Amino acid sequence: MLNIGVIDSGIGGLTVLFDVIKSYPNCNYFYIGDNKNCPYGEKSATQIKNLSLRLVKYLVDEKKIDILIIACNSISSTSTSYLKKQFKNIKIIETVEPTASYVKQIGFNKALVIATKATVDSKMYVNSLEGHTVYQKACPKFVEIVEDINITNKLKDEIVKDELDEYLNKVDTIILGCTHFPLLIKSIEKIFKGKIIKSSEGIILKLSDLIPTTNQKGLLKIYTTGNNVLFENKLKKMFGKTVKTENIDL
Ligand code: DGL
Repeated sequence: MLNIGVIDSGIGGLTVLFDVIKSYPNCNYFYIGDNKNCPYGEKSATQIKNLSLRLVKYLVDEKKIDILIIACNSISSTSTSYLKKQFKNIKIIETVEPTASYVKQIGFNKALVIATKATVDSKMYVNSLEGHTVYQKACPKFVEIVEDINITNKLKDEIVKDELDEYLNKVDTIILGCTHFPLLIKSIEKIFKGKIIKSSEGIILKLSDLIPTTNQKGLLKIYTTGNNVLFENKLKKMFGKTVKTENIDL
């Protein structure tokens, strides 16, 4: 059975992990949320490379992964080629190119990419969608409100409306260029009626070439570099899932 590592700065990558497991239950999954260092999106590309290196090293050395899913756009847009050079023996799937291919395939007129500062600064989405009208906006507050277990839905709605308002009539598609943002989808859907694209959609298509169809069921291990009790509470509140998680010190 294939071992798949999945990484993010925190809880966001679980939006990818849970969608991927639904499509491919027949693999073992090892997830790390680097909550100790969250958010990544405000850090420099060099810092993000160094932080992600240690996550992947752990997964390769300890969990013998065959495939790495970078379930974080900030890592994907700053560190993919670096990680590919460091880890030549595993297959690495990032978020940006699969998402760009997927939106091109389903078609769109004008799109807004909302993401972290690191992803926006990399211009990777704009470059991958060259020839199309693509606006991009960094929404660092969105990561904060997703990771904040105590925030009310009302406040979430207000912050989301405030940040997106100027684009709502300009685009027919919003690309969630940060894996934390599907956790704000209810707030976004209240004010936007167009297409909303998540990172998991393109990744699932990309994985179809790599994962054979079998009837097996793999295991799931979730690690955080932060407080695992808090992480479990977030999982329960945001995904409605009761899952044991473990703290790891990296
Ligand atoms: N979920 C991440 C992303 O897709 C990172 C958010 C952050 O840590 O700033 O970019």
